[in-house]
Amino acid sequence: MTIASQMPTAVHAPVGIFDSGLGGLSVLRHVRRLLPHEALVYAADSAFAPYGGKDEAAVLARTVAMADFLVAQGVKALVIACNTATAGAIVEIRRRYPALPVVGVEPGLKPAALHTRSGTVGVLATERTLASRRFIALEAQIAEASAVRFIGQPCPGLADQVEKGELRSPATMALVSRFVEPLIAAGADTLVLGCTHYPFLSAQIESAARQAGAASLAIIDTGDAVARQLARLLADHGLLRPPSATPAAIAAWTTGSASSLGTAMRKLLHLTAPAKRIAERPD
Ligand code: DGL
Repeated sequence: MTIASQMPTAVHAPVGIFDSGLGGLSVLRHVRRLLPHEALVYAADSAFAPYGGKDEAAVLARTVAMADFLVAQGVKALVIACNTATAGAIVEIRRRYPALPVVGVEPGLKPAALHTRSGTVGVLATERTLASRRFIALEAQIAEASAVRFIGQPCPGLADQVEKGELRSPATMALVSRFVEPLIAAGADTLVLGCTHYPFLSAQIESAARQAGAASLAIIDTGDAVARQLARLLADHGLLRPPSATPAAIAAWTTGSASSLGTAMRKLLHLTAPAKRIAERPD
């Protein structure tokens, strides 16, 4: 018997990463950088994106459907690379798959509270995330502990611009300015990217903040922290894949257009991965 065949097969299983659409790719890039030996399966629910304006029940149902799909692909761990889905469904996903290591994404209020000098932090996120009980509880907890003022800014339409590949169009720049200006005017010196689509717009967000008069500015993205949490969980479960000579595979699936996902991966991450369409049974 070879050493490889004695290894538990779960070690070699891929990590599943899921988002409503393309936003989770901003998390995947950190996972890839930190854990280059892990095989990854990315799933985008682009046919049902955006989640941010949907009600709680719809977000829960879609998150469960996507988690079920990834579990059926044999993933050894799951990253819910979407703040909106984490807020609305991580409790249910953990209840449904108690043995599966699950990492969620939440707006980085804690690092923002440590960083701000003005004591005012803007949180750019979806309407659903900002309205969720999970976010409201997190905000109350950090605000009480730090005396920092958080201003939630819902950004309807912004994730759609990323989905459409319009990172620098006039319409995108106008939306970014509309959402960022009031935060800077209110004294925010720190902006939290509370949606995984927004890191693809961080240069635009920074330039809108400068134009609005921000002298010093920090932008908080939790993608790296999520990758580190995944690495810790895999290590704790004895699931880290050992280095191998061949690069670990990345597969990509979408409920939307496979060619659009392939193009987005090339443009946003310079990654070539086979993208396939998830054929869902009608409800
Ligand atoms: N990427 C998702 C998040 O992190 C939301 C985008 C959407 O509205 O679907 O919240």
